[in-house]
Amino acid sequence: MTDKAKGRIGKVKYKSYNKKKWFPRQFVKLIAGLVLLMVLGYTVVQMTPLRSLNLGIEEADTSLGWNLILVNKDYKIPSGYDPELTELSNGQKVDSRIYPQLQKMFDDARAAGLELFVREGYRTTQEQQKIMDEKIEEYRAEGYSNSEAKELAEKYVAIPGTSEHQLGLSVDINADTSKCSSDAVYAWLAENAYKYGFIKRYPSEKVEITGINNEPWHYRYVGTEAAAQMQESGLCLEEYIEQLKP
Ligand code: DAL
Ligand code: ZN
Repeated sequence: MTDKAKGRIGKVKYKSYNKKKWFPRQFVKLIAGLVLLMVLGYTVVQMTPLRSLNLGIEEADTSLGWNLILVNKDYKIPSGYDPELTELSNGQKVDSRIYPQLQKMFDDARAAGLELFVREGYRTTQEQQKIMDEKIEEYRAEGYSNSEAKELAEKYVAIPGTSEHQLGLSVDINADTSKCSSDAVYAWLAENAYKYGFIKRYPSEKVEITGINNEPWHYRYVGTEAAAQMQESGLCLEEYIEQLKP
């Protein structure tokens, strides 16, 4: 073999040796780059207000009036929704339009011997997000996977952007348990809240519809007319709104 021929063979050999090494290294780099991009993209979406845009969820219908806005896993709070708030004596806030009826309900409950307070009223999206993140973390700490933890958390905490607390129309009412039982407060509310325009929003028998587990403390203002009709018929808000549609 001539030197020239050896050189050619050598060159070809070198090239094919190099190609073998080159391909997996570039491939690994490409995959690593893609993974990094995906992780970065996910992190950016999770850490910015983009997440609270809930791009896959439809905006709630406001045509039935402010008191009958339905928000849940399928309907989010309309963008720019910004209710005027009234601050309660313990610092919690509610939509100013529900304050008079809320006060009346509390006066009457207290007159009936109950000791109760609003544990949670209005929440910002950020506050709702924090509650959701903490709930997911709780489940993760119990050993659930990310997706299981999220699914379980969403049975108790509304997806940020879809909570009635963000509307300012809902309150979580608790008993001062050093003075009376939670059961006594929940029973009084279940029987009387409708008279003031409030409904128990997440009853145990409607979990399939609301998507939220039983919450005997969570009351939603819908107005006295709707509340009386819902109390009478046993319909939850989703069902009530559905039968109002033409
Ligand atoms: N706990 C209710 C569902 C909320 O987060 O609004
Ligand atoms: Zn609540």
